[in-house]
Amino acid sequence: MDYRFTDLLPEDFTDEALRDDVRRGLAATPKSLPPKWFYDKTGSELFEEITRLPEYYPTRSERAILMRDASAIAGRSGARHLVELGSGSAEKATILLAPLLGDETVYTAVDVSESALRGAAADLLVTYPGLRVEAVRADFEQHLTQVLRDGRDRKLVAFLGGTIGNLTPHQRGGFLRAVREGLGEGDSFLLGADLVKSPAELVPAYDDAAGVTAAFDLNLLQVLNDRLGADFDARAFEHRAVWNGEQEWIEMRLRARDDLVVRFGHLDLTVAFARGEELRTEISAKFTRARLENELGQQGFGNDGWWTDPDGRFSLSLWRPV
Ligand code: AVJ
Repeated sequence: MDYRFTDLLPEDFTDEALRDDVRRGLAATPKSLPPKWFYDKTGSELFEEITRLPEYYPTRSERAILMRDASAIAGRSGARHLVELGSGSAEKATILLAPLLGDETVYTAVDVSESALRGAAADLLVTYPGLRVEAVRADFEQHLTQVLRDGRDRKLVAFLGGTIGNLTPHQRGGFLRAVREGLGEGDSFLLGADLVKSPAELVPAYDDAAGVTAAFDLNLLQVLNDRLGADFDARAFEHRAVWNGEQEWIEMRLRARDDLVVRFGHLDLTVAFARGEELRTEISAKFTRARLENELGQQGFGNDGWWTDPDGRFSLSLWRPV
């Protein structure tokens, strides 16, 4: 069997969106950029490396839950159609699909990266030759309604990896509302969310001893150089990870070691940094069960299952429309 590929993004989607984010984020005080721009080829490779670091527990913890509880989760959902938002390499879907497999099981992968989608779809068809695979190139903050409306009955929408933590509270509300609107009776939503824990454990997960996360963070500057003709010198910045206890999120920041000016060749834009000034490159929010029940409850979800790893670091939770 072959997979079906659908592209919902315009050709220049990513360039346009990146320009807008840079114009807005670097004019603001404090400066910030959304974390989605980390993931060029080098950035994706560095992230894969992060997932294998001793300090970075989320990927291992989530996998431990999936390995132990995938059948329980699949059984509880009763789903026949898995829709994964931000599917990446679809490693997690591979685990989740085994207990979902039946005559008519469908898997829809949704991601912005065509190469990731095609790679994942091809791999899945090798593992599960009878599976119906659909790959949709889309921005899940923009095309969610359309993607979910096209889903079959009894679908399970999965948003894994803790990526929900990268959204601001405002974006999160909009995202959850859109998911909820796309669910009918009998559908469910599976969320992977990292849990609040001691900063002594959280900060090293985002500032590891080997410096891989620092390289990942600094690579964002290279992305801006490559895509927008900027002239950042990565050596002029240092990576920092800071726990924001009030918001309960980790912030990654790049701090200017000196006064400096950056030119964006493709944008007719120059941006000044004062010595010590920081550019926030990512928030990674951490959750409690009560907070998730409250936030999802506000958007019309009821909890229908909660699983954590043996160390209680990470959660998978199942939700239904109420
Ligand atoms: C892929 C968004 C889940 O926030 O933990 C890892 C990204 N950033 N190290 C996270 C990330 C720094 C990661 N997510």
